[in-house]
Amino acid sequence: MVIGIMGAMPEEIDPILKRLDDVQKHEFADNVYYTALYGSLDLVIAYSKIGKVFSALTAATMIEKFGVRKMLFSGVAGAINPELKIGDLIAATKLCQHDLDITAFGHPYGYVPEGKVYVEANPRLLEIAAVAANRQDIRLKRGIIATGDQFVANAERKEWIGNTFKADALEMEGAAVAVVCDASDVPFFILRAISDAADMDAGFDFDAFLHSSSAKSAEFIFAMLDEIDQTQ
Ligand code: ADE
Repeated sequence: MVIGIMGAMPEEIDPILKRLDDVQKHEFADNVYYTALYGSLDLVIAYSKIGKVFSALTAATMIEKFGVRKMLFSGVAGAINPELKIGDLIAATKLCQHDLDITAFGHPYGYVPEGKVYVEANPRLLEIAAVAANRQDIRLKRGIIATGDQFVANAERKEWIGNTFKADALEMEGAAVAVVCDASDVPFFILRAISDAADMDAGFDFDAFLHSSSAKSAEFIFAMLDEIDQTQ
């Protein structure tokens, strides 16, 4: 079973690579993919670069070139739901694209013909995450994640995204990875640790908490890998 682990930025995958031995490096389509063994699992790890286009490219490459059959995403997000504080973990139940807009033609926000507003994460992986969280006494919230090609540092925009999509958190890659995995029938799990509240302090908070929140997300990915390794 080949498992893909994606992040968007080097800081998001570095804590994962650091825990692996005998990591091999592969270059493809202007990106670097790392392979390693973890228990009985074959891992492919990469950061995509920020945004929907780069993350879709990386997800598709992992599936088509590296044979990934389960996809995990580890990284940081801005909180919309006020219950989510910096460092908290959220697993996406479903994801949407908050910046996709052809409402001029009467369609809802986040929708294009033959697409869907929400792409649902794999229930089995969410269950595995819940078991891993319980076992390690880690608080893992579930919720809707909204994705767009914008760093949101604006309370009004954040509120609009929250109200329009009932979203709990926002980031810049998850829904793109979800669309690619859904199209290829690859089960996926998008995990984020909160780095900021997508408000006027977001830029400052993001820089301050990128490392610590990325590390929390990465640590939980290993709890999930342990669970997957034991159950498969
Ligand atoms: N990822 C982490 N924080 C974010 C924010 N405020 N906007 C977009 N993506 C993010």
